[in-house]
Amino acid sequence: MQPSRLAQLCHNPRVRPTSTLPPRASLIENARLVTLAPQHGEHGPRRGERLRDLSIIERGWLVSMDGRIAALGAGEVDAKWNEVVGARRINAHGNVVMPAFIDCHTHACWAGERYDETAMRLAGREYLDILACGGGIISTVRAVRASSTDALAHTLTTHLARMRAKGTGAVEVKSGYGLSEDAELRMLDAITRVAAMDADWMPPIVPTFLGAHAIPSDNEAWPSACIAMLPRVVARFGKLQCDAFCERSAWSPQQCAELFTAARALGMPCSVHVDQFNALGFLSQALALGVRSVAHLEASTAGELAHAAASHAVGIFLPGSGMHLDLRFADARRFIAQGGAPAIATNCNPGSSPFFSMPLIIALATRFLQFTHSESICAATWNAAAALGLETQCGALAQGYRSDCIILPTQDERALAYEYGSAEPETVILGGRVITGSNGLRESLV
Ligand code: NIG
Repeated sequence: MQPSRLAQLCHNPRVRPTSTLPPRASLIENARLVTLAPQHGEHGPRRGERLRDLSIIERGWLVSMDGRIAALGAGEVDAKWNEVVGARRINAHGNVVMPAFIDCHTHACWAGERYDETAMRLAGREYLDILACGGGIISTVRAVRASSTDALAHTLTTHLARMRAKGTGAVEVKSGYGLSEDAELRMLDAITRVAAMDADWMPPIVPTFLGAHAIPSDNEAWPSACIAMLPRVVARFGKLQCDAFCERSAWSPQQCAELFTAARALGMPCSVHVDQFNALGFLSQALALGVRSVAHLEASTAGELAHAAASHAVGIFLPGSGMHLDLRFADARRFIAQGGAPAIATNCNPGSSPFFSMPLIIALATRFLQFTHSESICAATWNAAAALGLETQCGALAQGYRSDCIILPTQDERALAYEYGSAEPETVILGGRVITGSNGLRESLV
């Protein structure tokens, strides 16, 4: 095909090939496309009715070119694309094709495991009690400090591979198990190294600075040291998201407020773990400080939840923690009914939520958070992307978006929520390349 013909086909500059190499194009056809497509340049998280509109195209097709969605539509594939894609085709046989999930809250970079805590909790010890006694998060801190940056990067890679096999594209990954300047910087080094390794075509890994995850007993002055290191974090890694765990035995509301004031002055977007076990009154304060998301909310009062629902911030619900720890869940139904913008995430970590699967989280959200099927899909894709500021790149199937999509083993997307995490993708395509799938598919596209 002549380059001029190619350029003609690619109206969107973001899908125009950038080199003289032949385009890497492929086609998915005969698909039930759950697009969640934006309307009229829409950005920002969705609320209310918009959460339930999945913009489905029955019997649709989708063309990827050089990692982006070049075109999609209903019915027969436009003839002009046949020439471009050649033999690189997937017949979805009517099954659901939808955007890859966005996991917008994870602690996926860790070392060591915490299997012994299950026995402790069965014996009656609570999560915060284990933390206060130097276990929990602090036991992972000991393991991380003893690990090399290479080892941390390697383990993170294996965790990401497990997430991607379950259909996750973009992933947020927090530091927070270093809790000293050296160890926190090494965690961010490991996370950004993995992010850079993937950079040419894998979906984004979004690093978050979570120095405010706990206070180690060997360093009571850690909060002020952590705040003081923010300029060095920005100088080395850019304006990362800054997160904190506001809770008894972790950071106090006042310490969090000081951190966010300093972070905002440096241009870092902020997010907070708040009201997980105790409502300390920080939720409204965090909103006033301009956080872009508030995560957990299991213990929030009705008044604070209403305040969060009326705010600009995304509420990130993490049902994996309730499932793993204590069967306490946030009142997400109230939040949604009051016009809140919800996202859901795995919260993948070795202590409170050892889960890698977004299909499982979707199933938990419908059972324990009373999300509808459609709301849970939007919360795991578009709204999760919006929580990270990525919704103009991923979280939907639309022209110019990243070609990160999954093919489910079913013709009805409600199976995702209905089954208990077992409606996992048969095929995962990231940046237009098949990551998992039958050998036949892999060979035909790569
Ligand atoms: O969001 N609660 C704080 N952070 C994580 C748990 C981390 C851990 O236990 O290692 C959470 O649940």
